[in-house]
Amino acid sequence: MTHTAAALLYSLLFVVPTLGLPPYPVPDQTFLQASPPAKDARVLILGGGVAGITAAHELYKQGVEDFIILEARHELGGRMMSHTFGAPGRQYTVELGANWVQGTRTGKGPENPIWTLAKKHSILTQASQYFDGLTTYDETGETDFLDLVEDAADNFDHLIASAGSRVPKGLVDASARTGYSLTGSYPHTPQEMAAEYYQFDWEFTTSPEESSWIASSWNNNYTFATFSEENKMSIDPRGFKTLVQAEAATFVRGGQLRLNSTVSVISYSPTQGVRVTLADGQALEADYAICTFSLGVLQHQDVQFEPALPAWKREAIHSMTMGVYTKLFLQFPHKFWFDSEAALYADRERGRYPVWQSLDHPQFVPGSGILFGTVTGAFSRRIEALPKAQVLSEVISVLGTMFPNATIPEPLDFHYKSWSADPLFRGSYATWPPSFLPEHHVNLRADVAGRVWFAGEATSKYHFGYLQGAYFEGKEIGEKIAGCIKKEGCVGLEHVKHVKNARPYSDG
Ligand SMILES: Cc1cc2nc3c(=O)[nH]c(=O)nc-3n(C[C@H](O)[C@H](O)[C@H](O)COP(=O)(O)OP(=O)(O)OC[C@H]3O[C@@H](n4cnc5c(N)ncnc54)[C@H](O)[C@@H]3O)c2cc1C
Ligand SMILES: *[C@@H]1O[C@H](CO)[C@@H](O)[C@H](O)[C@H]1NC(C)=O
Ligand SMILES: *[C@@H]1O[C@H](CO)[C@@H](O)[C@H](O)[C@H]1NC(C)=O
Ligand SMILES: *[C@@H]1O[C@H](CO)[C@@H](O)[C@H](O)[C@H]1NC(C)=O
Repeated sequence: MTHTAAALLYSLLFVVPTLGLPPYPVPDQTFLQASPPAKDARVLILGGGVAGITAAHELYKQGVEDFIILEARHELGGRMMSHTFGAPGRQYTVELGANWVQGTRTGKGPENPIWTLAKKHSILTQASQYFDGLTTYDETGETDFLDLVEDAADNFDHLIASAGSRVPKGLVDASARTGYSLTGSYPHTPQEMAAEYYQFDWEFTTSPEESSWIASSWNNNYTFATFSEENKMSIDPRGFKTLVQAEAATFVRGGQLRLNSTVSVISYSPTQGVRVTLADGQALEADYAICTFSLGVLQHQDVQFEPALPAWKREAIHSMTMGVYTKLFLQFPHKFWFDSEAALYADRERGRYPVWQSLDHPQFVPGSGILFGTVTGAFSRRIEALPKAQVLSEVISVLGTMFPNATIPEPLDFHYKSWSADPLFRGSYATWPPSFLPEHHVNLRADVAGRVWFAGEATSKYHFGYLQGAYFEGKEIGEKIAGCIKKEGCVGLEHVKHVKNARPYSDG
């Protein structure tokens, strides 16, 4: 193709589809130029969370330094997000998002790369034993149903073992509820349901009904069997996000990072590359873009693609589930609760303020007066829709039920983040529903037109939902693009054009 023809094609591809959007300068002499205008970078990395920074690091390690990271927030970290919490003079750092390194290393086995980074940047962590140090409550106050918690752990083991036996036989997936029922687990009482919630929903955010039997099982295995069963909780006063920020500081130079830069449009063309338009109207051009925005952001259409993403991509995006996990932080003048690390409360309504953790614990932040509860899924969406004062009054009334003989003091501070309402996240992390097929997963990961690539926790087949999922995906896509740049061309990832049923549905 001649340069003039290339310039014409360039102007058609980029100028025509973006008409009506915030203006950006289009040089008059486009048609006369001898060659297309220089691009801003070879690669634009969209999002500065774990996946974005890991992708950037991989490019850097492979000698590709011509990249720019665009991040909407004022700092790096993404869903590693800390918050200064507490009454004046009694403030502590709490983690609104990721808080634990989940799975470290067993012997000489593979090490969780997040654990490697936590050690490298001296993140202050403490082992969390929330399955051993547990106190149980129901609507009558403290009640020991630890036997049911142990049964629920056994039931979960049966669930994942049975899922594992289906995989080599090629048997169909179903919901984890189907799996539980077929392996003989039928929780009915509030205590049995709370025990199951603690095993299942508290990790995945979605209920067994809403979750894949097979993928939930392998997700658990790849995390806790591959690395270890250990969970290390960050209690670092700098915030867990330091892990990403300190890592970025080892290789990112000034001009390579643009904070406070919200992407609104991603335009792409197989022959010409990408143009990314920011909310303030600025546009940047590159050969490739790596989109690390959460699944929720993609589902919510917070960012426009031009042309629209192909049908196979949209089907994949809208077939996975963005979960919600909400931590409710309370600070009290003094500790009046359990001495264990965690508590489980069995309400007659499954998932109603069920899990409580104490930061005011000798292992964590003694003297902090901080207690936090967790809710997930539909219950998270419910409280996000309520006034904060109503959520607080419900929480205080649940604590009154759990501790009937305690006088519960006025809290000094109360905070939670509404993850699903936040246009930069639209939820907490992805979860795999029973109707999401392996072909959908392939399509969720696949690049579009060899130009727009995707990476993040949600695109990880085995580690979705975890920091390491974002890490592995960022690394792999960074490697792929470095390869494209070195070879002056790309073979994209595979995708499946039409996802079909093994036996077609038909009414005949
Ligand atoms: C409440 C909660 C608890 C969690 N607990 C744990 C845990 O204990 N252990 C664990 O391993 N994992 C945990 N996770 C999951 C973990 O945080 C994520 O898997 C991981 O941080 C995702 O990284 P990412 O790079 O894929 O995405 P993100 O961190 O979401 O990075 C994407 C970035 O894109 C930016 N962005 C979005 N839209 C735009 C836009 N339009 N323009 C520019 N920038 C934009 C965002 O600001 C963000 O910085 C938790 C998550 C949440 C929310
Ligand atoms: C980003 O915005 C915040 C708040 O609006 C501001 O304090 C900060 O200096 C900005 N950072 C950059 C790098 O522009
Ligand atoms: C998970 O690990 C268990 C225990 O090793 C194994 O029996 C099971 O098959 C595995 N399940 C899956 C889905 O990988
Ligand atoms: C609460 O006080 C009542 C009356 O003194 C007592 O019977 C009960 O055991 C106490 N309950 C708890 C959970 O301590």
